[in-house]
This record gives sequence, C-alpha cells and structure tokens, in this order.
Amino acid sequence: MNSFIQEITAIETYPVRQPVLRAGKPIESCHFQGDEWPSTHHLGYFINNQLIGVVSLFEAKNLILGEEKSIQIRGMAVLDSHQKTGIGNQLIQEAENYCRKQNAILIWFNARTSAVGFYEKLGYKIEGSEFEIQEVGPHFLMSKKI
Ligand SMILES: CC(C)(COP(=O)(O)OP(=O)(O)OC[C@H]1O[C@@H](n2cnc3c(N)ncnc32)[C@H](O)[C@@H]1OP(=O)(O)O)[C@@H](O)C(=O)NCCC(=O)NCCS
Repeated sequence: MNSFIQEITAIETYPVRQPVLRAGKPIESCHFQGDEWPSTHHLGYFINNQLIGVVSLFEAKNLILGEEKSIQIRGMAVLDSHQKTGIGNQLIQEAENYCRKQNAILIWFNARTSAVGFYEKLGYKIEGSEFEIQEVGPHFLMSKKI
C-alpha cells in the first residue's frame, strides 16, 4: 500500500468534501469562500493514488482568540470507508507542520460536535459554548497553540 500526503487544488477536494461533509447537497455547496486565495492551501491523503482524505488551511484570525498569526482549518474529511484508521490524525500532523513553517502560533476551527473527541485527542481545546451553523449542525470553536 502506497500512501502519501500532497498539496491539491480546492476543486480536487470536492470528491471527498461532497460525500463526507455535504452529502445530498449540490456540488456548489463544496466551495468555501477563500478556497482560491493564494494564502489558502489544501492537502490530500492518497492511498495508491486514490484521494481518501482532505483538509484545507486558511490564513485567518479569530477575534475571540486574539491577534496572533493564526491558521483556520476547514473541510477536514476522510471517506467513510477509511475513517478511524489514522488518516485524519496524519492530516492534522501535516497541517500543524505547515503552520509551523508559516510561523503561525495558533490553529483554530469550528468543529462539528460529533468530531470534538477526535480533536481533543490531538490536544485541541474547546473555547466557549456550542453553537449552530445553519444547514450543517452543532459546532464548538476549538483551538491549539503550536
Ligand atoms: C473526524 C474525522 C476527520 C477523523 O478522521 P479519522 O481518520 O477517522 O480519525 P483517526 O483514525 O486519525 O483518529 C484518531 C483518533 O481519534 C479517534 N476518533 C476519530 N474520529 C472520532 C470522533 N468522531 N470522535 C471521537 N474520537 C474519534 C480515533 O478513534 C483515534 O483514536 P485512537 O488514537 O485512540 O485510536 C473523520 O472521521 C471524518 O471525516 N468524519 C466525518 C466528517 C467530520 O466530522 N469532519 C470534521 C468536521 S469538523
């Protein structure tokens, strides 16, 4: 089995974003504002050249968390068939390496409540109360200093 992580384009994330994060919704719903900005980066996890997992990194501050150089994680997804096999963990490790190279100090994101346990295992902490993102569901703001 040959597995690797490499940078991909925003559109290349859609075959994973759509079934995992936007099931039953149109392909346009897979687009995030800022996907094409030069400062945005998308990572793909491949097994035998097949895309299995994705994560996107946006240069963005969260004013609740402060003014430090920060990276927002969005669109974190692993195909159902391959979840809980360590791929999400490897994608987050690679995202953290990328952030260190960018001299970012903080990583943050709005985590689906169902995924909070995954991020907690990787050292991320909840900030504040649960809130609803329309058409997606309940979330918590989470962050980690790196
Ligand atoms: C959440 C998600 C990205 C995790 O990726 P993954 O490849 O399944 O996770 P890993 O196999 O690397 O798991 C790492 C650890 O977290 C645990 N874990 C994985 N998903 C979890 C979850 N939803 N809740 C609690 N723990 C979880 C694993 O059991 C593993 O624990 P271990 O180290 O004790 O064995 C993936 O399951 C997914 O795409 N889920 C659906 C979409 C989603 O919720 N995305 C996040 C949006 S914020």
